[in-house]
Amino acid sequence: MSLQNLFKPGTLGQYTLPHRIIMAPLTRSRSAQPGDIPHDLNAQYYAQRSTAALIISEATQISQQGKGYAFTPGIHSQEQINGWKKVTKAVHENGSKIFMQLWHVGRVSHSSLQPNNQLPVAPSAIAVDGQAFTYEGMQDFEIPRALESDEMVEIINQYRQASQNALEAGFDGVEIHAANGYLLDQFLKDGTNKRHDQYGGTIENRVRLILEVTQAVTEVLGGDRVGIRISPTGSFNSMSDSDPQSLNQYLIKKLNDYNLAYLHVVENFGDSDNSHFNFDNLRHLFNGAYIANGGYTGESAERSLSEGKSDFVSFGSAFIANPDLPTRLKQNAKLSQPDQDTFYGGDAKGYTDYPTLKDENREMK
Ligand code: PHB
Repeated sequence: MSLQNLFKPGTLGQYTLPHRIIMAPLTRSRSAQPGDIPHDLNAQYYAQRSTAALIISEATQISQQGKGYAFTPGIHSQEQINGWKKVTKAVHENGSKIFMQLWHVGRVSHSSLQPNNQLPVAPSAIAVDGQAFTYEGMQDFEIPRALESDEMVEIINQYRQASQNALEAGFDGVEIHAANGYLLDQFLKDGTNKRHDQYGGTIENRVRLILEVTQAVTEVLGGDRVGIRISPTGSFNSMSDSDPQSLNQYLIKKLNDYNLAYLHVVENFGDSDNSHFNFDNLRHLFNGAYIANGGYTGESAERSLSEGKSDFVSFGSAFIANPDLPTRLKQNAKLSQPDQDTFYGGDAKGYTDYPTLKDENREMK
């Protein structure tokens, strides 16, 4: 199968990208400690993957309160901004573009990771099933503290400041992480949002925080450098919603007011059931580019593009193991398989030591 649509240029907000293969955000938990600071090894990792049409950074906490995993990077201190400058410089020198994914985990955290060892915050006091990845190993999730209505202003300010910091660090744009069971998704879905104030109850109320965050972020960057990621059917992090189609239809219609560059949709993740959801419906409602994500191969991505179901496709684990993924897809070359044991934490092993095709050919000679 010829992957001709994958290799056509495409428009994403204010940018023209050379092809349709995007690197998805991937948590790798390798920032320098203390301080959650990006360093040279991270710059090397991203530089190696700069043949992606666009790189979306690993999820990056916008505040200490927004942190939920050991070793993930932040974008709320000057040292972190300076560390990210190394990353953006390396990616730009290699000719690609990079957006930062802005992350507040909400309840998917642990008091040992929070300011003054306070409880994690959430729309409602309902715990995630399972365990948090802390510096002391895996620990049970706690019952989070429900945010007060007047604390929302501070959360929105965290997103605004993080957007300014991302700009200072040299990013080409940002992605608002509203997927996979983190804070914004917790407000969106009625399995986790049991509030009685203006941020809970009706669909209009549950969408409110995302829209206020989008307003703040687009005030800093302009809509054409901002994307948003959602996972309408995702159950990862104990998520559920009683009517995802109506909820997401309403959300997309409202997001159109901000002229966003793209909508990034996790169509498939873990063992979530997506069989009753109509993703095409969201794609047609949304005014900007649609990035499809979730288990795509070169062939299924080509099919999605040629059938008009997406404008771009993002690849996650394939980019972990194949730093030159676009080249491999273009040449129909064999893909390397990722080693799950080195996904999170550690050093260069399983991070910057995956070979390119060129490296492999050199070894064979
Ligand atoms: C993870 O670290 O497991 C993780 C982080 C961000 C996501 C999904 C998973 O969106």
